[in-house]
Amino acid sequence: MSQISVEVDGVTYSDMVEPRTLLVQYLRENLGKVGTVIGCDTSNCGSCTVLLDGRSVKSCSVLAVQADGHKVTTIEGLATDGQLHPVQKAFHNQHALQCGFCTPGMIMATCGLLGENPSPTEEEVREGLEGNLCRCTGYQNIVKAVLEAAPEVAQMSAGESPVEPATQPAGQRAHTTTGEAAAASVGGAS
Ligand code: FES
Ligand code: FES
Repeated sequence: MSQISVEVDGVTYSDMVEPRTLLVQYLRENLGKVGTVIGCDTSNCGSCTVLLDGRSVKSCSVLAVQADGHKVTTIEGLATDGQLHPVQKAFHNQHALQCGFCTPGMIMATCGLLGENPSPTEEEVREGLEGNLCRCTGYQNIVKAVLEAAPEVAQMSAGESPVEPATQPAGQRAHTTTGEAAAASVGGAS
């Protein structure tokens, strides 16, 4: 077992994990962050995408120990003070989901894309999201949503990072977790 300390959605967690534990397993099973979903477990679908130090990664292709000392943002850390992140709002406005299974990963990949390219063309959006699959094939509205969100995210970035996690009360910032306790405290979609 290895000791790790990871900041996830603004809260620092210290845990013992097996060296083979994937980041997505750690997020879901130890922290109860079930908004990050597993679609394939083989790095193909992108549904498990999170931000690692602001860059999008497929969390089924990262070991939990590799996140030690780093900052992870999941779909559950995007909204701030009850307000949806601009990318979440744009997905809602553009009806950019059908079953919604790919949506957490699409949104996180979009945040990563807009962090690197604040004003992408439609072509660049399609290229930027090519690692994320939508089995409902709702790509057209997803692309529209990304283009809608881009200016607001850019504006937000001018003041603060659009991928910073929601602010947590000071009392919640240092946690040592067990899977059971964390799972009981989180209400994301499974
Ligand atoms: S679950 Fe990670 S890419 Fe599919
Ligand atoms: S909305 Fe169903 S998989 Fe994308």
